Amino acid sequence: MRKIIVANWKMNPNLLAEAKSLFRKVRQASQGVKNVTTVICPPFVWLPLFSKQKKSIFLGGQDVFWETQGAFTGEVSPLMLKELGCQYVIVGHSERREFLGETNEMINQKVKAALKAGLKVVLCVGEKTRIETKKSKVVSGVIEEQLQKALSGISTRLVLDILVAYEPIWAIGTGVADNPDDVLQASLLIRKVVAKLFSQEKAEKIKVLYGGSVTSKNVASFLAQPNIDGALIGTASLKPEEFSKILKIAAKS
Ligand code: PGA
Repeated sequence: MRKIIVANWKMNPNLLAEAKSLFRKVRQASQGVKNVTTVICPPFVWLPLFSKQKKSIFLGGQDVFWETQGAFTGEVSPLMLKELGCQYVIVGHSERREFLGETNEMINQKVKAALKAGLKVVLCVGEKTRIETKKSKVVSGVIEEQLQKALSGISTRLVLDILVAYEPIWAIGTGVADNPDDVLQASLLIRKVVAKLFSQEKAEKIKVLYGGSVTSKNVASFLAQPNIDGALIGTASLKPEEFSKILKIAAKS
C-alpha cells in the first residue's frame, strides 16, 4: 500500500531563499523514493514558487476559505489554491482551531468548499489532553464529535477525497508522540464513525494519517500499523535530511 507523507511547514521559513532551498532538497529526496505520495504544504506566499516545478511532489495549502471569491479580507479561496497547482489542502488543524477560533461548523464549510473545487482535504482531528485521548477510545468523545460535524452534509461520492489526520494536540510539536497502539485504536474509531455516516466500504477505504511529533525514529512504528496510511509531519518536515529519511522509511513500509 502506497503511504502518504504530508509536510506541514506551518509559518516557516521566513526567507524566500530558505523556502526555495528547502523545497529543492525535499524534491530531490522525493525523487529518490518510489511508492510514497509526498505532499508539501508551504505557507500560501511560497506556493507560486513551487507550482510549476513539482514533478514528484504534490502541493497543498495549509488552510482555505469557504467562499469562492469576494470581500473576505485576508482569505484564500479554493480556486486560488487550484490555480497555484495545489491538489490538497489541510483543514481544521488544531493550531487554527486554537489560535484562530475555528469551529467545527467553519471547518465543515471549508471541507465542502474544498471538495467542490476538486481539492483533496487533509482533515485534522484530535483531542487536547492525554486524558481526553484515553476517554475517546471508550465513549463518544472528541474525535467522533469533530468528525460528525466536519463531515455533515458531505456526499458519499466525495468522502474518499478526504484524508483524516489523527493529531492528538498534546503530541504536536512536543517531541512526545502518541504510541502506535493508541493511534491504531484512534484509526479504528475514525473508521467506525465513517461507517456510521457513510458506509462500511468507505470506512475501509478512507485514508487515515497520524500526526504529532513524527520523526525518522518513530515513523516506521506508525506506518507498520495496517490501518494507518501515512503521516502528517510538522517539525521534521523542515529538516531536509530528517524528512528524506522519513520518505525512505515510508517507501519500505
Ligand atoms: P509536529 O507537527 O510534527 O511538529 O508535531 C505536526 C502537525 O502539527 O501537523
